[in-house]
Amino acid sequence: MKNPSLLILPGDGIGQEVMAEVRKVIQWFGENRDLNFDVSEDLVGGAAYDQHGTPLHDETMAKAQEVDAVLLGAVGGPKYDDLDFSVKPERGLLRLRKEMDLFSNLRPAQCFDALADFSSLKKELVSGLDIMIVRELTSGSYFGEPRGIFTEDNQRVGINTQRYTESEIDRVARSAFELARRRNNKVCSMEKANVMESGILWRDVVTEVHAEDYSDVELSHMYADAGAMQLVRAPKQFDVILTDNLFGDLLSDTAAMLTGSLGMLPSASLGSPMQNGRPKALYEPVHGSAPDIAGQNKANPSACILSFAMALRYSFDQGSEADRLEAAVEAILAKGIRTGDLMQADGGTAVSCTEMGDAIIAELNSSI
Ligand code: IPM
Ligand code: MG
Repeated sequence: MKNPSLLILPGDGIGQEVMAEVRKVIQWFGENRDLNFDVSEDLVGGAAYDQHGTPLHDETMAKAQEVDAVLLGAVGGPKYDDLDFSVKPERGLLRLRKEMDLFSNLRPAQCFDALADFSSLKKELVSGLDIMIVRELTSGSYFGEPRGIFTEDNQRVGINTQRYTESEIDRVARSAFELARRRNNKVCSMEKANVMESGILWRDVVTEVHAEDYSDVELSHMYADAGAMQLVRAPKQFDVILTDNLFGDLLSDTAAMLTGSLGMLPSASLGSPMQNGRPKALYEPVHGSAPDIAGQNKANPSACILSFAMALRYSFDQGSEADRLEAAVEAILAKGIRTGDLMQADGGTAVSCTEMGDAIIAELNSSI
């Protein structure tokens, strides 16, 4: 049987360094677990702009459409701040999301026991925290038309449009309910139905989908501002949070910070099933390109490695191998092995990005 295919797009800044550690992990699974991938590699973001004058070459886009999963590092950096909006590094990532139609973005916010002291909240509020934010990723105000900067009555007007169709809400709601069934069976949907028509429609459609097919799942609704408040007041009340593109952007950064370890958090962006039954998929760490530490071998590769664990689970049906990899990362933390981003509180040993990767490989070795 043909090996599943992976397209690696390291991108910019620390994307390069963390992806080098992921490659070691991929190789480990080939050598030790008989899980082999056909890996190809290409450019995205500023790296692609430097080479081709565009943050995502058409050929790279075409490759991404063909492979079984895409793994992305990070995009962006100060070098590209003054570029025209249309060729900014972020546009490369947004094009991948839109053209692959990756409508369901899974962002876990999980507090690792060993790191509970790093949270900005009291330890008892976050210890054991395990939330999944399902963010709609291909519509809403990120993509709605009309958009642009126009001139009206002799002044400029900036316009973005919050727009959702029923089917866009329906499909992402289904993915949240499906996921909840495999977790603690609770979904809290967040919008602003008190001020936005798109929010009223969102609440209606989520309620309908629930009544039709998922009445076994516990569903609640919250205004997104109250949701943000509850997220920092008592985060453990949530299991799955379902929300739109823009609110999801904000709420997922908030949730990530609660865990005290942005450098630890992975994400998956999933679309409709392809012919082989696998969903179109892109996996990436939640953190960005961290230009301040790029090129210094200081980055934490865990989030990107855990993104590969999500690929094992959601694209390749290898849940127990994903568990193995996640357990290895947790074990390293429990031993006090930390990259610089996690050194604030407990003064363990600071290791480099490559040392962290090696430690995870060593832990994997002892797992078999
Ligand atoms: C994210 C990021 C992106 C977004 C940027 C880089 C386009 O903030 O993935 O959350 O706004 O969606
Ligand atoms: Mg964001």
